[in-house]
Amino acid sequence: MLILNKTAGVFFKPSKRKVYEFLRSFNFHPGTLFLHKIVLGIETSCDDTAAAVVDETGNVLGEAIHSQTEVHLKTGGIVPAVAQQLHRDNIQRIVQEALSASRISPSDLSAIATTIKPGLALSLGVGLSFSLQLVGQLKKPFIPIHHMEAHALTIRLTNKVEFPFLVLLISGGHCLLALVQGVSDFLLLGKSLDIAPGDMLDKVARRLSLIKHPECSTMSGGKAIEHLAKQGNRFYFDIKPPLHRAKNCDFSFTGLQQVTNKRIMKKEKEEGIEEGQVLSSAADIAATVQHTMACHIVKRTHRAILFCKQRDLLPQNNAVLVASGGVASNFYVRRALEILTNATQCTLLCPPPRLCTDNGIMIAWNGIERLRAGLGILHDIEGIRYEPKCPLGVDISKEVGEAAIEVPQLKMEI
Ligand code: KG4
Ligand code: ZN
Repeated sequence: MLILNKTAGVFFKPSKRKVYEFLRSFNFHPGTLFLHKIVLGIETSCDDTAAAVVDETGNVLGEAIHSQTEVHLKTGGIVPAVAQQLHRDNIQRIVQEALSASRISPSDLSAIATTIKPGLALSLGVGLSFSLQLVGQLKKPFIPIHHMEAHALTIRLTNKVEFPFLVLLISGGHCLLALVQGVSDFLLLGKSLDIAPGDMLDKVARRLSLIKHPECSTMSGGKAIEHLAKQGNRFYFDIKPPLHRAKNCDFSFTGLQQVTNKRIMKKEKEEGIEEGQVLSSAADIAATVQHTMACHIVKRTHRAILFCKQRDLLPQNNAVLVASGGVASNFYVRRALEILTNATQCTLLCPPPRLCTDNGIMIAWNGIERLRAGLGILHDIEGIRYEPKCPLGVDISKEVGEAAIEVPQLKMEI
């Protein structure tokens, strides 16, 4: 069992907590007697089967996760049918483990929350049908969860953060900047026009055959790039920052991937090695890609901060920037964002790395947030479907582009 430290007990009367902790020291869970809201969260949108039980104070009562990373590394990317089968093989065990660790009775649950959008259709389907069966058996309300909303709100479990705040979500499947005005109230400022940064890092890592590198063989592509980049020269080759003429908050990573591929091919020729072997300059290439990606992310985020301040959507001082999603677990990216927040009198907050990547806790917590706000709690599950594609919030990216805000240069001494 795991209990996350909250920096402040925002949702929470201290006397209640004391009673609760006292009772827990006797291995006794008060369940519905004291805690009114306890949610089981289930996540299967991509390649992690995850579940968690979280209460309304942010205590994680139980958690379990099965990662498919190693399997997909071997096949050179996620094969949806393989992901689906692995979810099917593991979901019952994972949910059972999370529930057992929580030591609550399933009848004490206030609701079941499950990711139903966006994500891989075959993966989402496994989580949804399992959840609906459970909802039927336990006769509990169902809370459908938007995966990106869950990433965005995770920070409110670990830190005291009020609305509004700016969120940067950077992962393997997504890249977006949004203003979070409420639990389910988002303004979309910009998104990737092509692939997500995690996808780009995964592709570069694959092309560099990092799975054959003894230090990185079990790491996700992004993690392997971060690891190797520590030993490399980030100015190894010149890459123009993507979209440098477009004065909006959109992103692009395909160009960066293609330029890097060309550079790798050139190096392979020079070193006389075949594709599939690890280049001697792999660390330099990793460092250059990571640095260029971080600078691009910072530039777009900088414009988003200036836009929000210009329109009084964020306070002029101490506005909060939250970064989450798998790529936000990268410490180089975090340091680059810190340079930005220091220069703009903002505060950077990131969930701990294991809550940046996909997990069940963020889904359960999103369920708690929705229960507290009374939003999207279903008592009738008839006709509920998963949605592989689903935008987040109201898209105002055109307005952001029309504002054409110039962004001052920042010295990126990371
Ligand atoms: O949020 P996530 O677990 O799943 C999606 O919703 O996509 O993100 C997974 C992505 C992968 O592309 C992975 O390579 C990347 O996050 N990632 C990282 C790091 N750890 C995971 N990227 C950069 N640095 C890391 N340390
Ligand atoms: Zn994710």
